[in-house]
Amino acid sequence: MPHDISWDEYNAHQHGRAPRQLLLEALALRRPDVDEALADVPGGAHDVVPAPPVGAPVAVDLGCGEGIEVEVLLAAGWHVHAVDGEPAALARLVARVDPAVRDRLHVQHRAFGEVGDLPAADLVHSSYALPYCPPEDFDALWRRVRGALRPGGMLVVQLFGVRDGAAGTSGMTFHTLAQVQGLLAGLDLLHWREEDEPGTSFTGPKHWHVFHVVARRPAVG
Ligand SMILES: C[S@@+](CC[C@H](N)C(=O)[O-])C[C@H]1O[C@@H](n2cnc3c(N)ncnc32)[C@H](O)[C@@H]1O
Repeated sequence: MPHDISWDEYNAHQHGRAPRQLLLEALALRRPDVDEALADVPGGAHDVVPAPPVGAPVAVDLGCGEGIEVEVLLAAGWHVHAVDGEPAALARLVARVDPAVRDRLHVQHRAFGEVGDLPAADLVHSSYALPYCPPEDFDALWRRVRGALRPGGMLVVQLFGVRDGAAGTSGMTFHTLAQVQGLLAGLDLLHWREEDEPGTSFTGPKHWHVFHVVARRPAVG
């Protein structure tokens, strides 16, 4: 992390904040799919308890930090594979989750450059984390991300642009618009916002250049 703040300090301060809006929007977008699937079920979509048709859905959270979004997914019935390079936050997450859902959480303490194959997933979420993957490791990590997405699976991610205030920081990865478009090739774009404006960060004022993306692998192909 830039400045003198450790990831542990950053993550510990996240506890109690609201879940990331982009994930909540993505989960809301997923509902029409469930309704479509249930439309073929005798009784129709509206009088059926919305259980997933084939097993419980699987999510990956890369750079989950304190795990605020992991808890949202667990509460919604997902199996979650949560990865982070900072062990203390993962330990707090495991200690915090309801024992009743603990068997649906799998945590992995791993640097982005050491992440191997990810489980096949209906959702890959990564909020404000992938830019902290070193440039030399990014392409391999992105191949893992794309490879994990099941047909119909959603990708919910923030990537940093080249005008971000942190651009040029050693060990971080920044993308041009064209590069982000390339990374998303073959996916259906469900939500797109390019933020390019001054704001504040955990450590003070900062110019944010962020691509906020929700995309989906086509169900067929
Ligand atoms: C800005 S925080 C975002 C955390 C969480 N997703 C959120 O939205 O609050 C970035 C996270 O990435 C993790 N991280 C940073 N560099 C990493 C690396 N090289 N490998 C694995 N995790 C890393 C940090 O430990 C931290 O939890």
